[in-house]
Amino acid sequence: MITEEGKNQSEEFTEKVKVPDACVMVIFGASGDLTRRMLIPDLFKVYSEKLLPENFTILGFSRKDLDDESFRDSMKSSVIEFTDKDNFNHDLWDKFEKNIFYMSENYDDQNSYIRLRDKIESLENDKNIKGNRLFYLAVPPDSLSPILKNLAVCGLNVNESKRSWTRIILEKPFGHDLESALKLNKKIRQYFTEDQIYRIDHYLGKESVQNILVTRFANGIFEPIWNRNYVEYVEVTSAESIGIENRGGYYDNAGALRDMVQNHLLQLVGYTAMEPPSSFDSKSIRDESLKVFQSLRPINIDEVEKTVLRGQYTSSKIRGNASEGYREEKDVREHSRTETFIAMKFFIDNWRWGGVPFYIRTGKKLPTRVTEIVIHFKPTPYRLFKSKHDIAESYNMLVIRIQPDEGILVKFAMKVPGTEFKVKNVNMDFHYSDLSGTQLPDAYGKLLIDCMLGDSTLFIREDAVEACWRFIQPILNAWKKYPDIKVYGYPGGSWGPDCADDLIAGRDFKWRYPCKNLSDDGNYCEL
Ligand SMILES: NC(=O)c1ccc[n+]([C@@H]2O[C@H](COP(=O)([O-])OP(=O)(O)OC[C@H]3O[C@@H](n4cnc5c(N)ncnc54)[C@H](OP(=O)(O)O)[C@@H]3O)[C@@H](O)[C@H]2O)c1
Repeated sequence: MITEEGKNQSEEFTEKVKVPDACVMVIFGASGDLTRRMLIPDLFKVYSEKLLPENFTILGFSRKDLDDESFRDSMKSSVIEFTDKDNFNHDLWDKFEKNIFYMSENYDDQNSYIRLRDKIESLENDKNIKGNRLFYLAVPPDSLSPILKNLAVCGLNVNESKRSWTRIILEKPFGHDLESALKLNKKIRQYFTEDQIYRIDHYLGKESVQNILVTRFANGIFEPIWNRNYVEYVEVTSAESIGIENRGGYYDNAGALRDMVQNHLLQLVGYTAMEPPSSFDSKSIRDESLKVFQSLRPINIDEVEKTVLRGQYTSSKIRGNASEGYREEKDVREHSRTETFIAMKFFIDNWRWGGVPFYIRTGKKLPTRVTEIVIHFKPTPYRLFKSKHDIAESYNMLVIRIQPDEGILVKFAMKVPGTEFKVKNVNMDFHYSDLSGTQLPDAYGKLLIDCMLGDSTLFIREDAVEACWRFIQPILNAWKKYPDIKVYGYPGGSWGPDCADDLIAGRDFKWRYPCKNLSDDGNYCEL
């Protein structure tokens, strides 16, 4: 286990915690799932940590018939449900909720936005807020257009004064394919400038994602070997143990490629593979990750069957309990071919990574919940201890664990003490939780504060969204053009179709399996 160094050492780099200026945050779709499960609980948490000013104000905007009081009550119940119930601070909540308001309005009625403007101005006067406005669009994608347009019609898309700001946060999905993403970007840019737009990907708000950059660029030992000369292959795995959880209507039209790969996982690839930025500012960092996306080798539509493997969970028994198959889930089409699992191989055609295969694997109803980036290093040039142990086991690995139990793990070979000459892979394992007094901020809380401070580093820029879609589009085209490309069934609780192993198979290549199969059932089948 690695622990933090002595507290008094002067090597610590600390940026002063900044508290943003007060703003009115308008949440469109405030009656929805995202607001109650993520936004309000995370905002209350950062408020409790004194990271928000006292007069920070929330204004919910939705069609649902609620008033200030019923909205506050409903948000209070959600915060109690989704945070640490036992330590819920009632007095602090009473203070916080005094700045929560609600309007029951229509998204496509211009008069609603005139009332919204009046309400914002009156809140700004009452709370002494200097015209800073944040619009959070927590609505399904189809409802974005009228909101964007009506905000602009009522003049709510521009800064109130030279010293105030107006920003807008958009939720994924940022389009359904390349064409719709281009259209969406065009539509947003019609009304807002790119520096006002914050496209949120909550994965990027995770501490361990930001730490990829610190690990790589604040340490002299990793960067020299972070390239094609020393790295054999790179794996990004994001497993979920749950299924689609009543989101059949959305998921059956999306699938794992759109839901996970196009956004979260390619962003992780961007951070893992990018060149050192010239400075630690938003533009430099986002410029460098964009270059990675632009260097992704285009996938040939006729190669998709060989390099991209899709699967779907079937009914099974997990630890003895019956588990439904995807097609039995509510709101999923009877013969759906939507992928709940994907494994793919690709290359980054640039100087650093030329010839190094990258692999992404993600799926639902896998044995555990884990997201990790695994750098698999090349073996030693000569295998001195070849006969003593499993060769594949001797590869060095650096595992960056994004969730849960954020941390970093290095695997390397050691002699097992004893008279016998036995070599074993051991772990050097760092967990964030080992840092004393460190509380990991929730991703939404962190990102919301960043947005209020005008720091867009962890938000996705227009050009990055488009570059990622450009890479993904041939896969969608292939599945459309060749509908017979197989969808492999895999029992819930397993690590996906066995043939995902063939995709990665090479010179002792294999996926890292952080835990064993939990399924009581046998092999995969073809659907
Ligand atoms: N929930 C999550 O965990 C999560 C995670 C990542 C991203 N997102 C994204 O965040 C956005 C909001 O997610 P959500 O889960 O909160 O969505 P949701 O619960 O389905 O919808 C949020 C609210 O939007 C309003 N709405 C406007 N037009 C609607 C329409 N055509 N159909 C249904 N509701 C409509 C509804 O409020 P009124 O009827 O009261 O107006 C609804 O309560 C989506 O873009 C989603 O993809 C959500």
